[in-house]
Amino acid sequence: MTQITLSNTGLTVPLSAGEAYFNYCWLRDACPSCIDNQTRERVFDVASLPELPRARAAWLDSDAVVIDWQGESHVSHIPLSLLETFAARGRAEDPADLPPKLWHADRARYFTRVPQQAVLSDPDARARLTRALIEDGIAIVTDMAADKDSLPRLVNAIGPITPSAEGLFFDVRVEIAPTNLAFTAGPLEMHTDLPGEEAAPGVQFLHCLENTVEGGLSLFLDGAAVAEALREEDPEAFRLLASYKIPFFYRHDNWDYRAHQRVIETDPEGRVTGVTISQHLQDALDLPQDMLDSYYPAYIRFLKMMQEPRFLVRFRSEAGNCVIFDNHRIVHGREGYVADSGKRHLRGCYTDRGALRSTYRVLAKQGHSGLSQAENAFPDMENRFQASPETANDPAPVTQNAAQAQN
Ligand SMILES: [Fe+2]
Repeated sequence: MTQITLSNTGLTVPLSAGEAYFNYCWLRDACPSCIDNQTRERVFDVASLPELPRARAAWLDSDAVVIDWQGESHVSHIPLSLLETFAARGRAEDPADLPPKLWHADRARYFTRVPQQAVLSDPDARARLTRALIEDGIAIVTDMAADKDSLPRLVNAIGPITPSAEGLFFDVRVEIAPTNLAFTAGPLEMHTDLPGEEAAPGVQFLHCLENTVEGGLSLFLDGAAVAEALREEDPEAFRLLASYKIPFFYRHDNWDYRAHQRVIETDPEGRVTGVTISQHLQDALDLPQDMLDSYYPAYIRFLKMMQEPRFLVRFRSEAGNCVIFDNHRIVHGREGYVADSGKRHLRGCYTDRGALRSTYRVLAKQGHSGLSQAENAFPDMENRFQASPETANDPAPVTQNAAQAQN
């Protein structure tokens, strides 16, 4: 094995995949003594050193690189496992860093379904739910208790409720008056919620309390999957929607929210991380008018793709179910109601995506991965998409594109 090599700015360590370079400031900050055992917060300030840190000597111990620092009486033991992780992935280990499993309409009948009581009392079930929300962006909690605290009990098992301009909760409810057609509930086009807020709500809960109307099917699609399809089929349209921000708003008597968002959100590596769509909350586009000559056709193409059966899933919301979905990825809407046919009442609220991932990380560190035994043996296999006991009794899809589910 080659030895550690020192330079003016860092050192090179022989690791399992070859030599890797690490900067001295990074290494000094990575010393385990920098983190307080009790608070688990950083208690060392690299800027407090009179000069940039530099190794006087460094050597390999059994499972650590030992560094004797110049200019201070301090020796660091940096775990080799940490260096291996950063050499391999460039960032810290993160159990919640699960790549999204993009889905089309044909996958919808295999969405993860977990009874509410299991979510509240069983960490394996909670891990299964939170993992599905990270990977699929959507999951269904069944057998919800009917009391008024049922929804907050569920949300709090995943993260604190985050308020919007409406408050902590919102009600999607239309009382249909048989004598008044003005109360007919029209269709609601595909959208993500509240893009006019600086950071739109992260994870949305829709608890169906009552639904006896004809029609009014809930619509969902994976916006990231549609964005990837657009990238494949019209790369220039994808580039425009991923590059430029457009304005959204949310106005009422006492509020006037405005924010600019990219319709397709990507990370620095160019991977799709989300979408923002809402025609009913879209403001007048303020891109240069000549740019709109190409932006609008791209935007319209994307909007039309969101009507295509290959992506679109139709659910009938049934009382007692709660659909949970990533509001930055899953686009939702509603078909129109048949007037005078009954009542429909959904109660909703939000938590944020950071809280969702935090909950999953804690569960994963406790040994609850959210995978079944078979998947633990073969974590890449896709049998999570095969019918589980909860889904096995679901009827077959009613049409080619409409996945029949219980909500
Ligand atoms: Fe909505």
